Amino acid sequence: MRLDRFLSETTPLTRSLAKRALKNGEVTLNGEPIKQPATHIDTDTDVVVLNGAQLALVGLRYIMLHKPADVECTARRGLYPRVVDLIDLPKAERLQPVGRLDVDTTGLLLLTDDGQWSHRVTSPRHRCAKVYIAELDEPMEGEAAQWAINQVAEGITLDGEETPTQPATLRFLSPQQAELTITEGRYHQVKRMFVALGNHVVSLHRRSIGDVVLTEALAPGEWRELTPDEIASF
Ligand code: URA
Repeated sequence: MRLDRFLSETTPLTRSLAKRALKNGEVTLNGEPIKQPATHIDTDTDVVVLNGAQLALVGLRYIMLHKPADVECTARRGLYPRVVDLIDLPKAERLQPVGRLDVDTTGLLLLTDDGQWSHRVTSPRHRCAKVYIAELDEPMEGEAAQWAINQVAEGITLDGEETPTQPATLRFLSPQQAELTITEGRYHQVKRMFVALGNHVVSLHRRSIGDVVLTEALAPGEWRELTPDEIASF
């Protein structure tokens, strides 16, 4: 890897600031001062030091965030803060949300720079269960609730689509609070499923994805790295 790229991947420096640090004599390679940005280094064996600190490439990163409302899952800066702005790690903008949550949806969001892992979590073929808690506009009880449970179990044809949703599980925690478990991630899927059932979602929270569960240990806006077991569970 080129030395300037190595510096920009292992520190908050941009490529041009890395070149400037090299020019200013702030970098040594295997103990010798080095100034040429195009120098090729072996990232496994060469020792690069910037202002006295030895640098190392970080591996792939796997993060869980308790997404608050009014934060967006986009890469571009817009009206709302971005989820990556909540992750105080170097180069956090390289992390990609693993499936999106709407700006008003709260709860579990995974982020990673491992594209293959992200695909395993999101691909409908892998049938990874996502559990949502929805507060509903209208109470659903008795026969109406049972009808909704059956519809969801059979699959619902959403407005503008031809293929019904995959069989899913609906459970009422109270007449106006439902737990919905789905294995796909269609656009606004949960909200559109409740519209198809004649209701509206007033607020939505994602509790879990596969075996990864959001607990009270993470307050809204807080994040942590996934454990090796959680990463391997997908
Ligand atoms: N379904 C929705 O409608 N919104 C989300 O944010 C996630 C799933």
